[in-house]
Amino acid sequence: MNTQIDQTVLDAAVAALKQTWPDATPKCGLILGSGWGNAIEDLAGPEIPYSALPGFGATGVMGHAGKLRLAEIDGMQTLIFQGRRHWYEGEGWTPVILPVYLAHTMGAGTLLLTNASGGIRADLPPGSLMVIEDHINMLGSNPLIGPHNPKLGTRFPDQSAVYNETLRHKLIRAGADACGVYIATSGPTFETPAEIKQYQAMGADAVGMSTVPEAIVANALGLQVAGLSCVCNWAAGISPVPLSHEDVNRTAAKTMPRMKKTIVNFLKDIALGN
Ligand code: HPA
Repeated sequence: MNTQIDQTVLDAAVAALKQTWPDATPKCGLILGSGWGNAIEDLAGPEIPYSALPGFGATGVMGHAGKLRLAEIDGMQTLIFQGRRHWYEGEGWTPVILPVYLAHTMGAGTLLLTNASGGIRADLPPGSLMVIEDHINMLGSNPLIGPHNPKLGTRFPDQSAVYNETLRHKLIRAGADACGVYIATSGPTFETPAEIKQYQAMGADAVGMSTVPEAIVANALGLQVAGLSCVCNWAAGISPVPLSHEDVNRTAAKTMPRMKKTIVNFLKDIALGN
């Protein structure tokens, strides 16, 4: 597998999107991860299945609808990516970071990344909404590895403040519970209890298998990044029961009304500034 981001595929996707929505002027991008797929179902706007855009491939994981929507909220257009591709799917970085590149190229300055995670910190039980204040990359790779591509930012992007502080405050005001550090592993296995103990010692508050690659690329591109994690289970070793994707989805479904409200409040707040 060639893991390098394929610029020709990115360019083809941009061309297809501009041809489909030539008048689109999105200010914000939103990537809806595991369990978040239906969070904005009631916002009106046109949609395109991922299958109609080069580069996405098929979204095969349950709970990922796989379509792009152009929604308007309080006069602000938002590109909503309903479903994400993951590193563990083994198709390289291009489908994983494509939404970030599309949002950036279409003119969005702000990007909200959402995901599901396992709670490590004691005050983050299942059903908590954690604002990502920083991340730890345990994916074992980095989407920017390879010859330098200036279209994806500088060779050595600074990461001192990947998640914008003002946006973090907005997310808390919008309805999230607390801030914390998100650690990303490659998956697709859940972690062992020994790994979770190690991650806790490293300073991680919640663990998942996504978001960090998108945040790395968005930060390198100069986007203002926000991250919101729905803690759906206690992490391995803390949880009294084995972990399953079904349980993750069940908690996400139960938390959906709060997830929805938090996203809509956040987007309305961003729209005020435009
Ligand atoms: N670990 C990794 N990814 C996850 C988890 C978890 O416990 N819960 C939801 N996504």
